[in-house]
Amino acid sequence: MAFLLRAARWGLCPWRGYCSRVTKGALSEDFVAALKAVVGAPHISTTAAVREQHGRDESMYSCQPPDVVVWPQNVGQVGQLVALCYRQGVPILPFGTGTGLEGGVCAVQGGVCINLTHMDRIVKVNTEDFSVVVEPGVTHRALNTYLRDSGLWFPVDPGADASLCGMAATGASGTNAVRYGTMRDNVLNLDVVLPSGELLHTAGPGRHFRKSAAGYNLTGLFVGSEGTLGLITAATLRLHPVPEATVAATCAFPSVQAAVDSTVHILQAAVPVARIEFLDDVMMDACNRYSKLDYVVAPTLFLEFHGSEQTLEEQLQRAEEITKHNGASHFSWAKEAEQRSRLWAARHNAWYAAMALRPGCKGYSTDVCVPISRLPEIVVQTKEDLKASGLTGTIVGHVGDGNFHCILLVDPKDPEELHRVKAFAQQLGRHALALHGTCTGEHGIGLGKRQLLQEEVGAVGVEVMRRLKATLDPRGLMNPGKVL
Ligand SMILES: Cc1cc2nc3c(=O)[nH]c(=O)nc-3n(C[C@H](O)[C@H](O)[C@H](O)COP(=O)(O)OP(=O)(O)OC[C@H]3O[C@@H](n4cnc5c(N)ncnc54)[C@H](O)[C@@H]3O)c2cc1C
Ligand SMILES: *[C@@H]1O[C@H](CO)[C@@H](O)[C@H](O)[C@H]1NC(C)=O
Ligand SMILES: *[C@@H]1O[C@H](CO)[C@@H](O)[C@H](O)[C@H]1NC(C)=O
Repeated sequence: MAFLLRAARWGLCPWRGYCSRVTKGALSEDFVAALKAVVGAPHISTTAAVREQHGRDESMYSCQPPDVVVWPQNVGQVGQLVALCYRQGVPILPFGTGTGLEGGVCAVQGGVCINLTHMDRIVKVNTEDFSVVVEPGVTHRALNTYLRDSGLWFPVDPGADASLCGMAATGASGTNAVRYGTMRDNVLNLDVVLPSGELLHTAGPGRHFRKSAAGYNLTGLFVGSEGTLGLITAATLRLHPVPEATVAATCAFPSVQAAVDSTVHILQAAVPVARIEFLDDVMMDACNRYSKLDYVVAPTLFLEFHGSEQTLEEQLQRAEEITKHNGASHFSWAKEAEQRSRLWAARHNAWYAAMALRPGCKGYSTDVCVPISRLPEIVVQTKEDLKASGLTGTIVGHVGDGNFHCILLVDPKDPEELHRVKAFAQQLGRHALALHGTCTGEHGIGLGKRQLLQEEVGAVGVEVMRRLKATLDPRGLMNPGKVL
């Protein structure tokens, strides 16, 4: 049984018309032996527990595991693995740290999971050029620990300690994006092993310029491609100078509207806020319980300002004026690192605090992003819809970008509730599209938002994506069943 793990698979078709000709994954003993010859016996596994672990991420999707997991040690091995899989028609599944929230690593058609964490070198820091080259096993926290004494840092900070290449693959962002941008703004170059086994340097080998007008932006094509076009084996990232000083602040509001209005006003006043996060009353209550804090249970903004001592004073004053004008109370601020992290503790643990509201349940996070002017109306409406739905959920958001999450708790064994959660998420996605927004600000399309992607970019847009995919991956073997 171990030898003919998968005979022929027909599964989902990534684009119309082609798939019936592709025979997926004949994982014969010979094939597994060939993989083993590439990575070495200690770096391959077909045991059920290991496969199981690699068949899921942090999302609510319960998926099929891959047939085999391999740990390549270098880019040469990645190229050989991909070439082998391609020849045999076996799906290839890039695996970062598995913190994704959209089922991106699920092996819907089985195949070979490539766990990239052994490739974990920080290859080169170019201090004067503000850039760094990292391999896929490096996480954003590991990079910042490494940079600690350099005066530089990498600001993109999803809540989980994700791999930087996985973050590039999903187009991730986090709390600092309002000031420093998302992965889209901070990836300068990528090394990508293509389905053909060739190595592509998206901006040319070793290049790390600030600007260029040289042809199509291939780096941009691979940011957010979710493993469907190739495997990212190195990323050149933009670094930023560590700010001279930092102040954190929180304030509570009488209503959702007042909190979100304040966000819009702060941005309109051109206060260069570094972080501005919204948590609703249910989220604050959950955070108080989980992190043993005693914040006022009300819609709340968490803010952070970066700059010189002098400019911070001004920023803080301006923000306080605006929030007070909108009815804020309990404005508290902190300057010392320890105080600041205590203030931010609630926000950092928000996902786990939400999970603790219903132990044993899974979380599903919606992820819409709208033009900032439309943010107040959609957040207020979502809050009302959430109350009316009878679902348990919290709202937390990177509101400075117009991006917010409804964290919905769902019993994965209750199909009726799962259905209601999916319907709620779909409706919210459509609402955002109606306001000229997007169905995903940062988590990606994965398995569940493929229909919304079509509605978002339209028939021509999706068709161009399909053609690009077919050009790079004619047999549809790179992370099949995702995005398209
Ligand atoms: C508590 C919590 C908080 C979070 N907060 C945020 C947040 O604030 N902002 C945000 O954007 N996200 C957030 N996330 C989601 C998640 O951390 C990001 O999506 C992250 O970018 C995933 O990285 P990963 O390495 O874990 O990728 P994985 O989950 O391993 O993979 C995600 C997708 O990328 C592909 N992939 C991974 N590595 C590569 C590679 N080297 N080459 C090609 N494809 C690859 C996979 O095939 C898959 O499709 C959060 C998740 C959790 C659990
Ligand atoms: C991927 O491999 C690393 C290194 O061996 C390991 O620590 C990690 O747990 C693996 N991922 C999963 C999901 O098992
Ligand atoms: C290309 O796209 C990447 C990723 O979105 C971006 O960081 C980079 O600045 C772009 N490059 C150019 C030359 O526009």
